[in-house]
Amino acid sequence: MGQSFAATFRRATTQFADLIEVHAGDLLEQIWPSDEPIEILFVDVAKTLALSGKVLTEFFPRLIPGKSIVIHQDFYHPTAFYLPVVMDFLMDHFTIIETGRDWSVVFRLERPIPPEILQAASLYKFSFAQQQAALRRMMRRVGMPGSDYLRLSECAAIGTHFGEQRFQSALAAAIRRSRLETDSVWSDGLSWCSDFKASRIRTRLYGTPSLMPPPTSADKAHLFLSAFLSEVTARIMPGVKQRLTG
Ligand SMILES: C[S@@+](CC[C@H](N)C(=O)[O-])C[C@H]1O[C@@H](n2cnc3c(N)ncnc32)[C@H](O)[C@@H]1O
Repeated sequence: MGQSFAATFRRATTQFADLIEVHAGDLLEQIWPSDEPIEILFVDVAKTLALSGKVLTEFFPRLIPGKSIVIHQDFYHPTAFYLPVVMDFLMDHFTIIETGRDWSVVFRLERPIPPEILQAASLYKFSFAQQQAALRRMMRRVGMPGSDYLRLSECAAIGTHFGEQRFQSALAAAIRRSRLETDSVWSDGLSWCSDFKASRIRTRLYGTPSLMPPPTSADKAHLFLSAFLSEVTARIMPGVKQRLTG
């Protein structure tokens, strides 16, 4: 982290100062009071797995079932492919109430989440196959245009696990299949993809690239099969490709 911008923030929000309590510092070291419920959780800080995990274990337990909403600002950003994976894991407890405002998706907590589920979500020990299946389920839930945005997230997940070459072939397939040429989120996602570096994402997610578990043979087989099935079904039965490959 760089220098504090607390003064800039205070200046920009003077009008609402009496409604805001600033907790400056590293979020990883912050504790949310257990008796303070959260009605609206706007998440624009889950830029690493550690931060995403902290949001899950510190803030999610304070959400109010049937009431609280979570806005995931970066939901569709390819670099944050773990957000749709985690939210898929938690979908027994949430509904989606807004599938797309730029990069963001809005959820409402419907049922309490057991602490062990949040703990598992925060540890993010999902295999590549589980992550890909989660992304594809999420594609079906959000529909267009979000499902095409999430194709780029899938490319990022593939590249992060298997490297640049696999990323480029997945990206070429995603571009071939997309119908979103003039969509600004899609274009921004594509421009982010043009500079994809697996090691940069691994560092960003795990701190050190070597901490990322390497893909297993089952992951490699899964990627091969899913790419093959996607390609075949996209060619012969475009309408059912999602169902067969999800
Ligand atoms: C995309 S920006 C959020 C911008 C904000 N929504 C706004 O409209 O100004 C992400 C923010 O997370 C902050 N951040 C990154 N790591 C952090 C950490 N460990 N603890 C607290 N804040 C962190 C960055 O300083 C940055 O301000």
